[in-house]
Amino acid sequence: MKPSHTAIIMDGNGRWAQQREKPRGNGHTEGAEAVRRIVRHARRLEMDCLTLFAFSSLNWGRPSTEINDLMDLLLEFLYSERQELLENGIRLRAIGERDFLPSSVRAALAQLESDTAACTDMELVLAVSYDGRRDMVRAARRLALMAQKGDLLPADLNETQLMDALSTRALPDVDLLIRTSGEFRTSGFLPLEACYAELYFTETLWPDFTEADLDAACVEYSRRQRRFGLTSDQLAVNG
Ligand code: FPP
Repeated sequence: MKPSHTAIIMDGNGRWAQQREKPRGNGHTEGAEAVRRIVRHARRLEMDCLTLFAFSSLNWGRPSTEINDLMDLLLEFLYSERQELLENGIRLRAIGERDFLPSSVRAALAQLESDTAACTDMELVLAVSYDGRRDMVRAARRLALMAQKGDLLPADLNETQLMDALSTRALPDVDLLIRTSGEFRTSGFLPLEACYAELYFTETLWPDFTEADLDAACVEYSRRQRRFGLTSDQLAVNG
């Protein structure tokens, strides 16, 4: 079985640059190239959804030159990939607190979301200024407002309504969560959406992550038995 929804914490750009005695920005530039090849490959593998952690809410604490480099790369990506996304039926969506983003990035995101809205072959989700806990707070506020207006009875609140209040609403649950660069954390990335995901950690730094690395993660995923609380015997009976 291949993962329908793969999510990636793209880590290690800075270390990649450090190892080469280059500025951190070079690591991000190479990281953006890795994004291009992995999006293309995910489409080739016929994944339904690929979510990439492009910028965490905590990344706002980085030096402003690095933040600017990252925003520039994001902007460049949104312009340069338009044609390829359209030709490959890839719909782009962004999650996160976009009000914090520079207006140029916000506008480019909105434009590409609208341009690709009719694409149905794959969803590419960019998490920008994203933090799972903050997303949950926004969801809680949305639900509280609905309850206040009388549109929701707190006692009737269910998992579907909760998931639909998150910015990832309408996306399938994450099947496979990959983190590069040898760190073993999920760092607030899709905490509810990936709560049943298979986790895959690799030492490879993100700029070095290739199509073969994604294939290896998918092979490992296909070997895992996802039991969702059932026993192996039950799964054998139900096929
Ligand atoms: C983590 O590496 C990576 C980021 C904070 C940003 C990810 C951005 C990109 C891959 C490029 C731009 C994105 C797109 C979608 C075009 P790090 O800097 O924390 O690395 P380190 O832990 O080695 O310092």
